[in-house]
Amino acid sequence: MSAQQPSASNTTRRYQLFIGGQWVEAESGRTFASVNPATGETLAEVAEADAPDIDKAVQAARRAFEGKWSKVSARDRGRLLYKLAQLVESRAKELAELETMDNGKPIREALYVDLPEVIEHFEYFAGMATKIEGETIPVPGRMFNYTLREPLGVCGAIIPWNYPLVMAAWKLAPALAAGNTVVLKPAEQTPVTALELGKLIQEAGFPEGVVNIVPGFGERAGAALASHPGVDKIAFTGSTEVGKKIARAAAENLTKVSLELGGKAPNIIFADADMEQAVNGALMGIFFNQGQVCTAGSRIFLDERIKDEFLARFRERAEQIRIGDPLDKQTQMGPQVSEEQLNKVKYYVAVARQEGATLVTGGEPPALSGPLAHGYFFRPTIFTDVKNEMRVAQEEIFGPVAAVITFKDEDELIQQANQTIYGLSAGIWTRDVTRAHRLAREIRAGVIWINTYNIFNAASPFGGYKQSGYGREMGKHAIELYTQVKSVWIDLSGRPMGWYNR
Ligand code: NAI
Ligand code: MG
Repeated sequence: MSAQQPSASNTTRRYQLFIGGQWVEAESGRTFASVNPATGETLAEVAEADAPDIDKAVQAARRAFEGKWSKVSARDRGRLLYKLAQLVESRAKELAELETMDNGKPIREALYVDLPEVIEHFEYFAGMATKIEGETIPVPGRMFNYTLREPLGVCGAIIPWNYPLVMAAWKLAPALAAGNTVVLKPAEQTPVTALELGKLIQEAGFPEGVVNIVPGFGERAGAALASHPGVDKIAFTGSTEVGKKIARAAAENLTKVSLELGGKAPNIIFADADMEQAVNGALMGIFFNQGQVCTAGSRIFLDERIKDEFLARFRERAEQIRIGDPLDKQTQMGPQVSEEQLNKVKYYVAVARQEGATLVTGGEPPALSGPLAHGYFFRPTIFTDVKNEMRVAQEEIFGPVAAVITFKDEDELIQQANQTIYGLSAGIWTRDVTRAHRLAREIRAGVIWINTYNIFNAASPFGGYKQSGYGREMGKHAIELYTQVKSVWIDLSGRPMGWYNR
């Protein structure tokens, strides 16, 4: 579709690419539609970046890195990030609504979880900019050795659709605090809020080219960015499958990579857990954001002794979840992000049935009328009698489908919980503090939640074990992802080196 064509509806928004401080059409002139998954209607027509646009963006980022940005002090980088946080805050309601329309997540999540997390991230790393330091090393002899912690250069960020603005903030905030420049490729399903953020980045006063935003498709724009020799680092969040492709593409230029990938988290409920807390935690684990969360507690390990009581309560509460218009503040579950994702969920429901799991509730789309009848909705779904070897317990579904596996003893439980290619997160529900800490050590995952779930903070490191990726975002650890260390030696003796004495 060309940019000149009239749009399907006169409320369709239009966006160009943000490169070198300018809003520009794609070199090809192509655009693509971003759809509102609650109705199937086009929300925005967006310029589609491809390899030539990525190349332009990388060059703009390089010029900025070597030019103006390198002369901006850490304090001023921090002030710019803080200004950005304030601008986001001042437009939080509008950004939350756009996020909800582009992604389908309930407005109460966009407004009270996503936007605050974005603001917090920019604030946290605003403060971090002036705390990035080298060290002095007590080397022997009359030598002085110290380190400089320097930015990497041009960072490519490739992000997914489940938390569009949050993911942009997770990448941009530490990269900019550390003095890098960024080429950000939002997901093709949800480019709108990242582009809105581009306007605020401009308004905040970042020099041109420091941030470039180039939406497009993964196999084209994403692949071009990952394999570009002018990129110093790629930060990726998304599927494990694409993470491997990115690592391969980056290997060609030895581009540094950090990967935050999929999960199949065990959410473990012991018989001594507070039942009400555990039921709430299981709901939060698998139904939050329509189940489209990398940390989703999709494997619920349930102590056999509380199976009946827990399942009855879990089912009842799952059936009470209010599905509907995501812009309605009462709504607790919106649509899946796309028809593709909805089909994936349906496919795994069929697989689970075939494998002999028992459907407790859900398993189909809800009956909705009006415009929502065209949305990609699916009911909260629970399967029990799941065995850990089943595909429904091993493969990431990324939808509202819980697989309940019962256990009898702790050793067998730990062994099964760890029996997965993933290792992103885990939940543990128990009143026994000794057991809680014991399991926190035994479970091979990057985040452990005890009597809580899906809690994040900009100060706390996040990332995966095993095929859930490598590198830790957030907190001080994020700075390691976006800096490199230089070791500087100076001789204090003032004498020639003795090796080649005449
Ligand atoms: P994806 O991994 O294909 O997409 C994530 C990002 O990577 C998007 O920006 C996409 O354009 C880009 N991308 C895709 N192919 C690429 C390539 N060859 N080179 C460079 N960039 C590329 O995820 P997708 O297809 O949207 O969803 C498929 C599954 O991935 C989901 O069902 C879910 O299981 C998983 N996923 C996991 C996420 C997480 O947070 N860990 C987020 C999104 C999806
Ligand atoms: Mg894909």
